[in-house]
Amino acid sequence: MLGNDLAAQFRYRHDVIGMDMGDIDITREDECQKAIRETKPQIVLNAAGYTNVDGCEKAKEECFAVNAEAVKNIAHACRGRNITIVHFSTDYVFDGTGNRPYVEEDICNPINVYGASKLAGENHLRTITDNYILIRSAWLYGAKGKNFVQAILDQAKATGKLTVVDDQTGSPTCTRDLAAATELLLDKNTRGVFHLTNRGHCTWYEFAKKILKEAHMDHVEISPIKTAEAQRAALRPAYSVLGMQKFIAATGKTMQPWQLAFQDYYQHLTSRTCCSA
Ligand SMILES: NC(=O)c1ccc[n+]([C@@H]2O[C@H](COP(=O)([O-])OP(=O)(O)OC[C@H]3O[C@@H](n4cnc5c(N)ncnc54)[C@H](OP(=O)(O)O)[C@@H]3O)[C@@H](O)[C@H]2O)c1
Repeated sequence: MLGNDLAAQFRYRHDVIGMDMGDIDITREDECQKAIRETKPQIVLNAAGYTNVDGCEKAKEECFAVNAEAVKNIAHACRGRNITIVHFSTDYVFDGTGNRPYVEEDICNPINVYGASKLAGENHLRTITDNYILIRSAWLYGAKGKNFVQAILDQAKATGKLTVVDDQTGSPTCTRDLAAATELLLDKNTRGVFHLTNRGHCTWYEFAKKILKEAHMDHVEISPIKTAEAQRAALRPAYSVLGMQKFIAATGKTMQPWQLAFQDYYQHLTSRTCCSA
């Protein structure tokens, strides 16, 4: 999902070599070394991940292989070659017990396997190189890939009835906006950890209501439920809003509010027009 939008964003000013599972298995150190040796990049954007949060609880080994060990492979392959690594992590490295937006220096304390694997990946990156931009984002949706927006629309169409959790708060983020902001950070020649989401926050229930409204599906019956009632395999942080002062200070820019980002996204999704101006 994010990888596609990064490729679309960067191709205007860079030569982009996009790689997926068919081209490289990043859990294989030799494949990472070979890819870096042969393509000689200046920047590596790692948007690969084991992103099935509930699935991670059972597939711990696979999850750590992709989200942690593979980051080590990439960092080792890039080390000593003057290559900047841009790596993506998550709000789920935090435990969600806070009551103000998390800043980059806040203590991480993941409460599920996915979050623990992403934190392990962060730590590998930080240990191996200084030449990185580590972007923690959250609640992603985009045109290519499984995401909450599509799940809500599919379920609304199929059943006309939805239950959505109303006690988790975060910031829905459009992958196209995240890709543009990522390029901005690189342009500013920054390094280090940055929090980056669309602005503002809501619960999943509020986000689902917004999705239905934009899709003119207000007639669909939607009920708020508690996280415990949803019976998901993985625990989720109750509050995982990320503060973006560091991004704003580094770039002089902010992100658009999540509501506007979603409206833009949904209009483009349904208009079938090219949208990368
Ligand atoms: N989705 C979110 O809400 C969210 C929130 C915060 C942070 N993030 C982070 O943002 C990044 C992008 O997320 P996303 O939702 O765009 O992910 P995604 O749509 O699930 O895409 C992940 C990609 O990684 C590839 N991949 C998995 N294992 C691989 C391996 N061993 N070698 C090479 N490629 C591999 C997958 O290939 P296949 O499709 O072939 O499996 C897939 O194309 C991830 O690091 C994620 O942790 C996501």
